[in-house]
Amino acid sequence: MLRIAIIGAGRIGHVHAATIAAHPGAQLALVCDPFGDAAENLAATYGARACKEADDVFADPQVDAVVIGSPTPLHVPHLLAAARAGKAVLCEKPIALSMEDVDAASAELEAVTTPVMFGFNRRFDPSFAAVRTAVEAGRIGPLEQLTIISRDPAAPPVEYVKVSGGIFRDMTIHDFDTARYFLGDITEVHAVGQNLDPEIAAVGDFDAAVVTLRTASGAVATIINNRHCAAGYDQRLEASGPAGALLADNIRATTVRLSNAEVTDAQEPYLDFFLERYAEAYRLELSAFIEAVESGSPVSPSITDAIEALRLAEAATESARTGAPVRLG
Ligand SMILES: NC(=O)c1ccc[n+]([C@@H]2O[C@H](COP(=O)([O-])OP(=O)(O)OC[C@H]3O[C@@H](n4cnc5c(N)ncnc54)[C@H](O)[C@@H]3O)[C@@H](O)[C@H]2O)c1
Repeated sequence: MLRIAIIGAGRIGHVHAATIAAHPGAQLALVCDPFGDAAENLAATYGARACKEADDVFADPQVDAVVIGSPTPLHVPHLLAAARAGKAVLCEKPIALSMEDVDAASAELEAVTTPVMFGFNRRFDPSFAAVRTAVEAGRIGPLEQLTIISRDPAAPPVEYVKVSGGIFRDMTIHDFDTARYFLGDITEVHAVGQNLDPEIAAVGDFDAAVVTLRTASGAVATIINNRHCAAGYDQRLEASGPAGALLADNIRATTVRLSNAEVTDAQEPYLDFFLERYAEAYRLELSAFIEAVESGSPVSPSITDAIEALRLAEAATESARTGAPVRLG
């Protein structure tokens, strides 16, 4: 039984708390959040203890592992403090808001010996994982084109956007990781940003984007992002090669289809957002983390995966600003 503490009792902290509490191999031991009653309220829901200082988590001998769901600028300091205390870590994306912050801590990050896994939950989505398994098995021949569509149902509050690091670090980062998971190292990034929402434009960010990523072998991934989507949380992936294509489609609450005089094959909207759409992925992510910690096998996605996804986000940010492709490596 892995005794886990959560640092940060916000949106993703609630998702992880529910997942840990429901997992037979995990126990929610402690919840930490310095503000208001956030930690106490979340801890009380699952019969866990609460505290306000992250240092109290690191010093607690009753805690084996830490899930970091604090704001992004705290990820590196929290991760390093947890590792120094000998705790295993499951850290949320992105690793940091800038490569400067990663580079400043690179010696300490490289010296980490406790297991540190990153929360790129889409790797654990059963449909996306099945597509990758089929690609690896050669079902469509060598992967030539990967298309990732990710549209949120609605934009987050502009106050969140302001401190998010921008669409590429906050949102596209998941898709950068998925692209690397399928294609390996990326050699060129070309991003086009769109300003469809004037409130987000006013704080200097894009609210939609199309990114192409090229690999040394000539394979290309296309990522399509939008902060809004009338039909719900639009999460699709297609892999194509000379021998065929694999498509992971959207998921709806039921499989019911309506056909009448006005429409045929009409279905419900897509599941609303990440909590519902990726519930199983969060559960499988936690299982993979527990399995790696308990068996001592390598964790994946790793610190290196998190750094490489951030590198792609920075390249995309530069490309969208200049209009020119950015070459890497
Ligand atoms: N993988 C995913 O699907 C996913 C989804 C949402 C958010 N995230 C990531 O999770 C992180 C948190 O995002 P969120 O949407 O939950 O934000 P949030 O603002 O809802 O929650 C963050 C929480 O951290 C707390 N906090 C602030 N300083 C702290 C400190 N020093 N110690 C402990 N807690 C502290 C805040 O009080 C807040 O409750 C971000 O890095 C975000 O990118 C990942």
